[in-house]
Amino acid sequence: METVVSGIRSTGNLHLGNYFGALRNFIKMQESANCYFFIADYHSLTTHPDPAALHGNVRSILAEYLAAGLDPEKSAIFIQSDMPQVAELYLLLNMHAYIGELERTASFKEKMRKHADNVNAGLLTYPTLMAADILIHRADKVPVGKDQEQHLEMTRKFARRFNTKYGVNYFPEPEPYNFGSDLVKVPGLDGSGKMGKSEGNGIYLADSDTDIRKKVMRAVTDSGPTEPNSEMPETIRNIFTLLEIVSSPDTVAYFRERYADCSIRYGDLKKQLAEDIIATVAPIRERIVAIQNDDVYLSQVARRGAERAQESARKTIAEVREIMGIKRF
Ligand code: TRP
Repeated sequence: METVVSGIRSTGNLHLGNYFGALRNFIKMQESANCYFFIADYHSLTTHPDPAALHGNVRSILAEYLAAGLDPEKSAIFIQSDMPQVAELYLLLNMHAYIGELERTASFKEKMRKHADNVNAGLLTYPTLMAADILIHRADKVPVGKDQEQHLEMTRKFARRFNTKYGVNYFPEPEPYNFGSDLVKVPGLDGSGKMGKSEGNGIYLADSDTDIRKKVMRAVTDSGPTEPNSEMPETIRNIFTLLEIVSSPDTVAYFRERYADCSIRYGDLKKQLAEDIIATVAPIRERIVAIQNDDVYLSQVARRGAERAQESARKTIAEVREIMGIKRF
């Protein structure tokens, strides 16, 4: 069985773009692969060292992932900072990571610009920590978005370098996995491209029904088609794309016809879209609230996930120490 590792940022709540994009694929992947999903709280310290907020962020992300369908019976779901072996492998990998290559990483250069007052060593070695997350389980595959491709490329390089330096064939080079055509791209409702946190156009799994209605009613439209069967501008196409994701085929067909014969009323379209989004989001939101308030369940999940992940991590660390010549008296 293939081993898959994926880290989840511990800042930022889940929106429909995350849910219908990568998350639904994670949920499917649990059935056929040996999955390790973790919340990357160490990584968040490179830019967001906030003791008052950290644990709450981890809790809400964990609750959201569980509510959306990550299953602790099927996958190891855990918190990065519960893994001392990851910290150790990070230290060891740093001995073979060159300052020059770390400085040339695109994300580092960007963060240097954005956080000029806090260019810390953790930021520089972000890619070695990510490599440690992945290599500790000797992963075969890592689902990655565009922004993480270079980091994964560096993980592959570190794995190769380790194998060459020590004359072993120990770490597999993990392959990037982007879900191909299974990856649903969710558009924003502000007329621009995709839904995203940084775009500020997200509909979140934790949003109330009222929030959702408000956001959908504000979606950018135009004055409507004036000729039958005219082509849709991007703004309207985006609304239809979302409708296709959350509504029934009949509903989509109904509004497509109204568009084609110019009788469409965008107000009706948006009302329908809002209700269908609510039908998807509301049950998940209810589960989020229930899980978030269930300390016993959360701690059970986190402990069990850490136990599972540590089992594989301990084995790797013992073997890596052996390969590197670290021996106990
Ligand atoms: N850097 C990733 C992000 O910002 C999160 C992450 C940390 C990760 N460690 C990982 C992703 C290991 C995949 C594998 O999204």
